[in-house]
Amino acid sequence: MVALKLANVVKDYHLDKISVRALKGVSLEVKEGDIVCLMGPSGSGKSTLLNLMGAIDVPTEGKVFIKGTDISALTDRKLSEFRNRTMGFIFQAFNLIPVFSVIENIEYPLQLQKVSSAQRKQRVTEILCSVGLEDYAHRRPDELSGGQRQRVAIARALITNPAFIVADEPTASLDHSTGKGIMELMAEMNRKMGTTIIFATHDPMVSEYARSIVNVMDGELV
Ligand SMILES: Nc1ncnc2c1ncn2[C@@H]1O[C@H](COP(=O)(O)OP(=O)(O)O)[C@@H](O)[C@H]1O
Ligand SMILES: [Mg+2]
Repeated sequence: MVALKLANVVKDYHLDKISVRALKGVSLEVKEGDIVCLMGPSGSGKSTLLNLMGAIDVPTEGKVFIKGTDISALTDRKLSEFRNRTMGFIFQAFNLIPVFSVIENIEYPLQLQKVSSAQRKQRVTEILCSVGLEDYAHRRPDELSGGQRQRVAIARALITNPAFIVADEPTASLDHSTGKGIMELMAEMNRKMGTTIIFATHDPMVSEYARSIVNVMDGELV
């Protein structure tokens, strides 16, 4: 079944009076449970594509359907609700909240969903174990290594059991073996829960985890 579909998607960014066409008419279908890797040089449009596939942004032209929902038709508020329910987004720079502990960072998406404190606690305990951070629960991000921070970001993305994980160069700031561990973790989520995973990378080791490779060049698929 098709989980995500882009139809003739164009994305323009406007900087003062200049407009940059970052995507020039991209069509793509992602099957449920697939692991898709976007590859391409810097500036080719990978992050732009991931932001659309992760319901962080909407296209200038064309349509993006996520589980049948046309996200280009949603208001900002509906879009963020949809994102919170359906997506786990892992940013290249982790985007953790520095004054929050590991637990507080991870449970934040559940607070947005107004999940009770007892349920949050149970779910956070489970996910801390599955990412191997049970001994670091009360640390702040600046008291963790890069690999541990990325594990927190992954746990935060997974805590809501999202149908999709969208990850922008998830291993870019990690050493080889830590990066491999992160990819193993995502592959395990895919095996256990059928999570559809879409990520961008430059790294051939990381692309080995993909089932489908999509090459991006100058705002187009090649
Ligand atoms: N917020 C933005 N404002 C203006 N231009 C942008 C913005 N984000 C990306 N771009 C431009 O869009 C193109 C694609 O960028 P991006 O999607 O970040 O590529 P990649 O992730 O493959 O490096 C580049 O030319 C980039 O400069
Ligand atoms: Mg990028």
